[in-house]
Amino acid sequence: MEEAKLIIDGKEWIFPVIEGSEGEKAIDIRTLRQQTGYITFDPGFGSTGSCRSAITYMDGEKGILRYRGIPIEQLAEKSTFVETAFLLITGELPTRDELTRTSVHLNDFSLLHENMKAFYQNYPSKAHPMGILSAMVNAMRSFYPELIDLEEEMNKTYLRLISKIRTMAAMAYRISLGERVVYPKPGLCYCSNFLNMMFDSIVVPYQIDPDLVKALNVFWILHADHEQNCSTTAVRVVGSGKVNIYATLSAGISALWGPLHGGANQAVVKMLQRIHKDGMTIDDCIKRAKDKDDDFRLMGFGHRVYKTYDPRARIMKKMADIVLSKIQKDDPLLDIARKLEEVALKDPYFVEKNLYPNVDFYSGIVLRAMGIPTNMFTVMFAIGRLPGWIAQWKEDVSDPEMKISRPRQIYTGYQVRDYVPMSERRQG
Ligand code: CMC
Repeated sequence: MEEAKLIIDGKEWIFPVIEGSEGEKAIDIRTLRQQTGYITFDPGFGSTGSCRSAITYMDGEKGILRYRGIPIEQLAEKSTFVETAFLLITGELPTRDELTRTSVHLNDFSLLHENMKAFYQNYPSKAHPMGILSAMVNAMRSFYPELIDLEEEMNKTYLRLISKIRTMAAMAYRISLGERVVYPKPGLCYCSNFLNMMFDSIVVPYQIDPDLVKALNVFWILHADHEQNCSTTAVRVVGSGKVNIYATLSAGISALWGPLHGGANQAVVKMLQRIHKDGMTIDDCIKRAKDKDDDFRLMGFGHRVYKTYDPRARIMKKMADIVLSKIQKDDPLLDIARKLEEVALKDPYFVEKNLYPNVDFYSGIVLRAMGIPTNMFTVMFAIGRLPGWIAQWKEDVSDPEMKISRPRQIYTGYQVRDYVPMSERRQG
């Protein structure tokens, strides 16, 4: 077995090396502090493996993403979001019967408790839907049981969450507009049902377009999991304290909200709108993005893991073309995005730092074309990521190796000093 040798002040320690199924290697330093008194220092966890996981494989150098071994390109082309969710959570693609049962449960669980509906009325109209969604998912614990010891019940809990998050998101949107709530329709598939709840009206009934349904399936498949990213780590860390699944997922939603993570899709569209409105040139944007004294970043560019083109961005870019041609609309923001990408990919700063478009660079354009409002973009990401969070939480709580998350730190504050009474403190 391969081992790693650590030498500090001439003293040697040996640590085992563990290897993943795709050849990834890690030095197992679980006993490091106990043996040596030292800890590791890795802010942002760029060199830290926090768990063993059999869910998602990424190779950031080669631009590979697979769920349970299946390439993302095949899932985007051939699967549906519901089937992919089943794959992530259970580890296998469903049989026909399993898929039918899943769809029946998703339909059965799609309504929201009327008392939960009342929560929406008290939010200010400008409340961000991500804040509402995170609070609503947390509130579900008070309305629905979580019977962690019964597998059958937990499987229902996962489906209840996947079904209701879609209803809650659409409802938040309708109520924010002051419009009547559209209830889920039994018989419509997951994506059609969501679009119908968002856009149906008494005056003009919503026409379900199979191309838009396909685009939404692809959008949610691409977002369904991404191994140990910020929000998934939040889910695993919060879940490690053995809090209930609703509170755990609510933490994931909050973590996703940030503009460096899931909030980037909203930030990209805001950036493109600003460039369009202010008439900024592409060269100006690139110059500003490179200037360390300017807080302007090229949103939708760069990734902690991908050091090449994000495979999801490639699929999303194609989707943007398909959806825009379908609705027969040109979007000036798509032209700006294409030009920005072209110039950035040739610019030495972006080339040297391996900064390529990530999934969020084109996803906002796809969502806009579907009629989804900008402040709902990150909610759309959250709906897609839910099966991944559930799969990761499930893996975590059933892993005998896992412990409560509790990193250490390098303390840099004062050394011990005495309490100073108020009368002796500096004035001011
Ligand atoms: N524009 C300009 N410079 C950038 C960008 C960017 N978008 N991204 C990274 N850099 C520079 C950064 O300034 C740094 O330069 P230096 O080495 O000279 O200090 C270098 O590239 C490395 O960046 P970093 O911030 O240290 O890298 P990270 O791995 O900590 O951050 C990131 C990754 C995604 C947060 C970052 O690239 C970023 O802020 N991108 C824009 C936001 C974005 O698109 N986020 C969505 C990520 S994909 C969706 C998801 O899965 O969450």
